[in-house]
Amino acid sequence: MTEFKMPEIELKNVGLVYEGKEPVEALRDISLKIGAGESYSFIGPSGCGKSSLLFLISGLIRPTRGKVLIKGKPIKKPREDCALILQDYGLLPWKNVWQNTVLGLQIRKVSPAAQKKIAFPILEELGLDNFLNLYPNQLSGGQRQRVAIARALALKPDIFLLDEPLSALDALTRENLQELILKIWLERKITFLLVTHNIEEAVFLGQKIVVFTPGPGRILSVLPNPEAGEPGYRYSTKFHRLSNKIRNILEDSYLVP
Ligand SMILES: Nc1ncnc2c1ncn2[C@@H]1O[C@H](COP(=O)(O)OP(=O)(O)O)[C@@H](O)[C@H]1O
Ligand SMILES: [Mg+2]
Repeated sequence: MTEFKMPEIELKNVGLVYEGKEPVEALRDISLKIGAGESYSFIGPSGCGKSSLLFLISGLIRPTRGKVLIKGKPIKKPREDCALILQDYGLLPWKNVWQNTVLGLQIRKVSPAAQKKIAFPILEELGLDNFLNLYPNQLSGGQRQRVAIARALALKPDIFLLDEPLSALDALTRENLQELILKIWLERKITFLLVTHNIEEAVFLGQKIVVFTPGPGRILSVLPNPEAGEPGYRYSTKFHRLSNKIRNILEDSYLVP
């Protein structure tokens, strides 16, 4: 049985200040409860603390105030079951597609036979099985990001954090990868948190959409979006209405002194 328990993420009055000569308050009083297998999009202006929030949930940094709980327990260090995908792919340039994909499995001392069994179907699913011997500099941006996603999926994460993963891609590649990310979420029901600048992307992928104020980031609004993932949603009136609503909320937030 490969069943694993789904986590629940809870943020309780979380505040984050980066200490230094001039301290920066990145997040203020964030409270949020995320159910296992849900997908959330986070959207807000640059510098409002979106990346910081993902780093807090991944356990890479600790909150200054409040608590970050995973499955009810305060997070003390990065969890192995939490995948974090960044915009710059994070691939090792001297390793090919296959080697990059199995990197995490190697670190976990998974046998080469088991590596093949786990990684190959994922590479097939992501349309990378014909590129196993290519190096990152021989791949397009979209292919690179798919390798990064394959590497993360090989470790069977229960939480998938994506920080503007598609920002560097052209519009069509971007939509293509949005579809792929949606498929991954629908099939695996991993808890998904996506940070994006792009309103349509947030609406396409998030069952709930969290809108942030300009920094220090506070939650301005949490919008339900239960239709996310339904076929044809991108072309529906509901989709466009919600996108416009978010656009208005974001525009108004800039006007607040
Ligand atoms: N390591 C750091 N040290 C000091 N300030 C930081 C650090 N990382 C981010 N910040 C600041 O915290 C705020 C939030 O940053 P970030 O989480 O990257 O926002 P976003 O991802 O929404 O653009 C910004 O003002 C940023 O300059
Ligand atoms: Mg960021």
